[in-house]
Amino acid sequence: MVAADIPPDRTDAPTTRIIHVGLGGWGGDWERNAIPPVGEVERVAVVDAHEPTLRAAQETLGLPDDRCFTSLTEAAQAVPAEGVLVTAPMDFHVPVALEALEAGLHVLVEKPFAGTVAEARTAVERAEELGLVLQVSQNYRFYPGPQKVRELLSAGAVGDLSVVHVDFRRWDHDAPAETYRHYRFPHPLIYDMAIHHVDLLRMTTGREALSVYAKVTDPSWSKYSEEAAAVLVIELEGGLVCSYRGSWVSRAPQTHWDGEWVFEGQDGYLTLTGRGNDGPGDDEVRLGLGGKTAEPVDLPAVDVWGRSAGLRQFARAVRGGAAPDVTGRSNLGSVALMEAAARSAASGKVEPVEQVGGTVA
Ligand SMILES: NC(=O)c1ccc[n+]([C@@H]2O[C@H](COP(=O)([O-])OP(=O)(O)OC[C@H]3O[C@@H](n4cnc5c(N)ncnc54)[C@H](O)[C@@H]3O)[C@@H](O)[C@H]2O)c1
Repeated sequence: MVAADIPPDRTDAPTTRIIHVGLGGWGGDWERNAIPPVGEVERVAVVDAHEPTLRAAQETLGLPDDRCFTSLTEAAQAVPAEGVLVTAPMDFHVPVALEALEAGLHVLVEKPFAGTVAEARTAVERAEELGLVLQVSQNYRFYPGPQKVRELLSAGAVGDLSVVHVDFRRWDHDAPAETYRHYRFPHPLIYDMAIHHVDLLRMTTGREALSVYAKVTDPSWSKYSEEAAAVLVIELEGGLVCSYRGSWVSRAPQTHWDGEWVFEGQDGYLTLTGRGNDGPGDDEVRLGLGGKTAEPVDLPAVDVWGRSAGLRQFARAVRGGAAPDVTGRSNLGSVALMEAAARSAASGKVEPVEQVGGTVA
């Protein structure tokens, strides 16, 4: 299969043309909220394998028939484009990414990239062979709070780190058990949610994980078919330890999507919360030195954030600009930690995290 009419070089073009695959709940949200702020992107076609979902999206978006497809292959043959945005469920991420790459199209794929490092690596290697961009949308990175924490930690603002604590608490348990798909997700806490947090842990500390111990909680009344909550103990490079507690069934005060973080160092501590429902204004970082109470730190203003900021990086990389912060390869360390946590939950043992090489972006 050859993608129709891809010019060899669209470096000077004002926009990057993308085909959007997967128009379910989150794909629809991308259409409403994440794509429109990025003027450098033109969504030229949509694909959903489920005909009724496709037709509903067609009507909502007001698209003609020749822009709507049930297969990416058909879309790529019919509509000139440079990239594909994949917002299908995790099990389809790598198959659809490979289909796109074989069509000569660059790929931006939702988290979690894949359920295993081995599967993710097939797409990473193929993209590298073909010289195409493969990016993972780890949208939580593109908020001012985590960016500021990374900057402060790398400048040694609190001295040598001793420990990191993370708490994520949400109550997501009021939907009908029969129809709410989230209750049937594989590893709803570790794969669906903690992937964001372990990725932020790598990003903010600049360290890879070496091992993880996971204990999951599945209360008798939980509607989730797999773990509703989990506690992880993560060992990172340099002897740094992170305690992580995450729950979808917490009646305690609710956190923002980032959760609540404490980074403890020799000279002081940093706290972080953010990724609230109201955008970057909910982010908050505090710095406390020498035993004093932590005070808020000024955060940088951002014009676009979250998914839109990643999408803009993708559009620019496709047109010959800098590589995105989160390539498929740099994301392998997050997939490896997520995969090892699930393995530990099953084995009841501390599990090593596969060392995948590359750099912590
Ligand atoms: N980053 C975030 O904050 C965030 C939030 C929510 C969801 N997500 C991610 O977004 C992805 C999608 O989640 P969702 O809740 O929208 O799922 P969903 O099941 O509601 O929608 C997925 C859609 O993809 C379609 N699809 C499946 N396989 C396909 C294929 N091969 N080709 C074309 N279409 C196909 C389905 O028909 C469905 O309409 C998941 O990876 C999820 O983890 C990310």
